[in-house]
Amino acid sequence: MKGIILAGGTGSRLSPLTKVTNKHLLPIYDRPMIYYPIQTLVKAGIIDIMIVSGKGHAGQFLELLQSGKELGAKFSYGVQEEAGGIAQALAVCQDFADQEKVVVMLGDNILEDDVTLAVQDFEQQASGAKIFLKEVDDPRSFGVAEIAGDKIVSIVEKPKTPKSNLAVVGLYMYDNQVWEVIKKLKPSGRGELEITDVNNYYVEKNQMTFSSLSGWWGDGGESFDSLLKAGNLVAQSRQ
Ligand code: G1P
Repeated sequence: MKGIILAGGTGSRLSPLTKVTNKHLLPIYDRPMIYYPIQTLVKAGIIDIMIVSGKGHAGQFLELLQSGKELGAKFSYGVQEEAGGIAQALAVCQDFADQEKVVVMLGDNILEDDVTLAVQDFEQQASGAKIFLKEVDDPRSFGVAEIAGDKIVSIVEKPKTPKSNLAVVGLYMYDNQVWEVIKKLKPSGRGELEITDVNNYYVEKNQMTFSSLSGWWGDGGESFDSLLKAGNLVAQSRQ
């Protein structure tokens, strides 16, 4: 399976920190933010990884991460020419994926869990997709899943009145149907091609499975508080 890390976007919620620096290069304790999702994938045995960033920042990622040798990975680089959502950034990776299944991680998501077993489960899954859920106190700034037993019934992006407290983590696994799904997406109210719409395609086809995270989860890009909290979680885990 191939890995993809999405590190584009304008990072407007963290301005002025992101006026000249890409959000995913901001410090989380002692490392640039993007190191954490890279480590999550590498630990799970995913080493062939494409990093997608936006115009104006791609050179910085290349300079920082280079071939990937230092981090035990092999990097390719892609550029999302306009900030048009997570699913649009993912579309850049179709040729790289070369019909293999993919593990996609958002460059601002920081996980305590080792996801190796879930990745291995998905390798065995005949078709479809798999996502990760985590209970949170206030899910309104995330994709929120409604479940019935071991099935996901629906996912709503940033609902005002969430039907559960199960947030969809920024780590997704897809089979090669994903490329055709993305081509059919329409922009959402915020003008983006939403990853939640991709996920709901698989939910509707009854081809979506999920795994629950047990450790902490930090979304470093959500707000100044979430950036600070993610740094503190990492610092505490080192003690
Ligand atoms: C994105 C997804 C959302 C998911 C979140 C996880 O939100 O759209 O479904 O729960 O990442 O970090 P965004 O960061 O674009 O607001």
